Amino acid sequence: MSTEDQKKQAGKAQVNQSWGGRFSEQTDAFVEAFTASVEFDQRMYRQDIAGSRVHARMLNKVAVLSDDDLAAILDGLDQVEAEIGNGSFEWSIAREDVHMNIEARLTEIIGDAGKRLHTGRSRNDQVATDIRLYLREQIVQVINEAKRLQHGLLGLAEAEADTIMPGFTHLQAAQPVTFGHHMLAWFEMLARDVSRYEDCSARMNMCPLGAAALAGTSYPIDREFTAELLGFDAPTANSLDSVSDRDFAIEFCAASAMLMTHLSRMSEELVIWSSIQFNFIELPDRFCTGSSIMPQKKNPDVPELVRGKTGRVNGNLVSLLTLMKSQPLAYNKDNQEDKEPIFDTLDTVLGSLRAFADMIPAIQCKHANMYAAARQGFSTATDLADYLVRKGLPFRDAHEAVGSAVAVAMEQQKDLSELSLEVLRGFSAMIDEDVYEVLTLEGSVASRNHIGGTAPEQVRRAVVEARNRLLESV
Ligand code: ARG
Repeated sequence: MSTEDQKKQAGKAQVNQSWGGRFSEQTDAFVEAFTASVEFDQRMYRQDIAGSRVHARMLNKVAVLSDDDLAAILDGLDQVEAEIGNGSFEWSIAREDVHMNIEARLTEIIGDAGKRLHTGRSRNDQVATDIRLYLREQIVQVINEAKRLQHGLLGLAEAEADTIMPGFTHLQAAQPVTFGHHMLAWFEMLARDVSRYEDCSARMNMCPLGAAALAGTSYPIDREFTAELLGFDAPTANSLDSVSDRDFAIEFCAASAMLMTHLSRMSEELVIWSSIQFNFIELPDRFCTGSSIMPQKKNPDVPELVRGKTGRVNGNLVSLLTLMKSQPLAYNKDNQEDKEPIFDTLDTVLGSLRAFADMIPAIQCKHANMYAAARQGFSTATDLADYLVRKGLPFRDAHEAVGSAVAVAMEQQKDLSELSLEVLRGFSAMIDEDVYEVLTLEGSVASRNHIGGTAPEQVRRAVVEARNRLLESV
């Protein structure tokens, strides 16, 4: 025998047990490792086993699998799950993925019954089911963590409902706002993020099992039974679509990219506010680190890291979109590449939310600094214009008069509230002593007393309303 023939002979004896029938040579060792997914898809072992249990029950119900075989499969799967749980399970790259590792081990334990489990099923519908089960569970965790953060924001908003700070546009002091109001803005962003996750979870909750490789199966399967036992709303409607599309994973990554974008904006503000130049807040020491060379430094690492991690989540979204783009129906091996972006997104989002939920309630406001900053930059100029409008001046004329007042105040290096009545009357004879009520920061925020406004009274009302919303949605 030539060496080549010998190799072939040796190869034939070792071809993969799961699909080796038509193969005459062993998979190249590198290709075997290159195409394997077991190192990462083993994260879904519980879902894979849950799917197998239900699939076996269904096969038994429609009389394709005997009672004895079903009992053996269920016992065997319990043992496999226990072995994986206690770390004694040996994952094998030669068995490629989580599905074949589990099935092969099951067969080692229970013999022929294990080989009957895959009747009327393919890894294509199996993996599509596993990811949905896995994501569905994990999204609940994400939502819980987001809500914990929302609760923290409401606590801070309530405690700081009266705290005055400058509100910004273009990062220039614009009008005074309350810190509580600012926290409620963050709350709203997260509320929309949570609803995006809920939408995506609801659309995802359809059962692909039964689609088999792509065309369905010739066995008299009961897909409704399978779907119901696995907690899905219904079986998916089209077998080709079921095994191929990963739009639900893309939606999950899109919702996550949006959430991380929100967290990155919050992070940026925390970084700015905790800088010496702003000095609006104190981040708790346990969320910061020092510098190895500059002894005075306290760096806002957690918000910075969350801001940075937004990049990988946005990247994961683009990965999945690109992965799916132009894929012909039905299943293609490309789809194996969906898992790492999904898992990485999950880990990143859960970690970032956890860090924020722990950190937010511990933030301390430096009230005097915020107040002093709000007094700079003529942030009550709009209030003066509104005052003149209330006295009968058209808004454009009021805008003009206040503009001149600001110019004079700047020249004299004073705030508008520090100009004398005489000076102020020089800009409009309609100005009286009562003008000083609107020129104060307290008067300014208190006057914005409508739904969505920054008045302390509104903030307190909005906190109650938001808390009810949170409780209702549990
Ligand atoms: N490991 C594969 C994946 O993640 C499972 C499905 C494989 N199907 C196949 N026909 N090769 O997508």
